[in-house]
Amino acid sequence: AEVKKIAVIAGDGIGPEVVAEAEKVLKRTEELFGYQFETEHALFGGIAIDEKGTPLPEETLQVCQSADAVLLGAVGGPKWDNNPKELRPETGLLGIRKALGLFSNIRPAVIFDCLKEASTLKPEVLEGTDLIVVRELTGGIYFGEKFRREGANGQEAVDTCVYNVNEVERIARQAFEIARTRSKKLASVDKANVLETSRLWRETVVRVSADYPDVELEHVLVDNCAMQLLRRPSSFDVIVTENMFGDILSDEAAMLTGSIGMLSSASLGEGSFGLYEPVHGSAPDIAGQGIANPIATILSVALMFRLTFGYHDAAESIERAVKEVLDAGNRTGDIAVDKSTAIGTVAMGQLIVDAMRK
Ligand code: NAD
Ligand code: IPM
Ligand code: MN
Repeated sequence: AEVKKIAVIAGDGIGPEVVAEAEKVLKRTEELFGYQFETEHALFGGIAIDEKGTPLPEETLQVCQSADAVLLGAVGGPKWDNNPKELRPETGLLGIRKALGLFSNIRPAVIFDCLKEASTLKPEVLEGTDLIVVRELTGGIYFGEKFRREGANGQEAVDTCVYNVNEVERIARQAFEIARTRSKKLASVDKANVLETSRLWRETVVRVSADYPDVELEHVLVDNCAMQLLRRPSSFDVIVTENMFGDILSDEAAMLTGSIGMLSSASLGEGSFGLYEPVHGSAPDIAGQGIANPIATILSVALMFRLTFGYHDAAESIERAVKEVLDAGNRTGDIAVDKSTAIGTVAMGQLIVDAMRK
């Protein structure tokens, strides 16, 4: 098979810890399946601010642009929290998504049966939950003009939320396509009772839906959706929503699985290129302790294999290994019911690597 180039940007906090385990999975995949990966590491986020004076150095962007896929850990931390906007790790994250044209962020929340106890919700509520949040990633209030009002002494701030029809249409089509491969149910989430961008969103989704008569479409207001996700999570299949709503609802969906440490993501554009990262952040509260759950990042590698490389056999091997390791009772602290039995990041990573089979 041809050599696939993967840009690896570990970032800050627990980023390097969880990415190291995902890289072991890449290596094991080469041994088992004969695929070949060439990894190139690059600086990104807070560490790039410290070493290069910018969160997204030009050379890091070039490494990503010349790769077939990107594996990303997480960025951010208290050290950079009071920096001006251009010198914030998060600005680099938004910048890389925009520069690479990754407008579609796919965040699956799949319940492992054996983890039902790990969730704060009742097991019977979770039964059968298997949903995907499709989050618009390069528009909306994250990218609209933002400023402090002049003459107001810095006492008034403005964030603008902008969407155009093309941005809504392309994410809607992606979501309908995904829904088609699943149980053919799509929930479009907006705040059309208040926001003009949401009314444009809803109009556009309705128009696109004419091309997908086989997919059942429902519109859910975001506040109601936040509630329904806890009340009847298993009734959702694919959820499509704008950037900020998707950010919030996917963290909420993470708790259905037991922990944010379980949620993987794929960020895609028009082609097969993708950026793969856990949904969680750099977790400064546990960074450096070797206790972070690496499963979200490892499952992001499985998504990379499926969505960018078409290596379905290797993806399945990873997903099966994760399930086996969890079924056997192995838990990191975030998903352990009895915290005294919890294992660390490296131990969890190694168990998964060892459980992979062809
Ligand atoms: P977070 O996701 O980093 O952490 C939230 C909570 O979940 C913390 O208690 C943390 O310990 C726990 N947690 C997260 N990942 C875990 C894992 N793999 N295993 C076990 N526990 C885990 O969110 P936050 O605390 O709001 O943000 C911290 C920093 O991360 C901020 O600077 C933020 O901007 C950044 N952030 C980055 C990304 C990203 O790089 N994609 C995503 C979210 C937040
Ligand atoms: C995420 C994160 C980022 C986002 C932040 C760190 C900019 O929360 O990837 O979910 O809001 O997109
Ligand atoms: Mn988030």
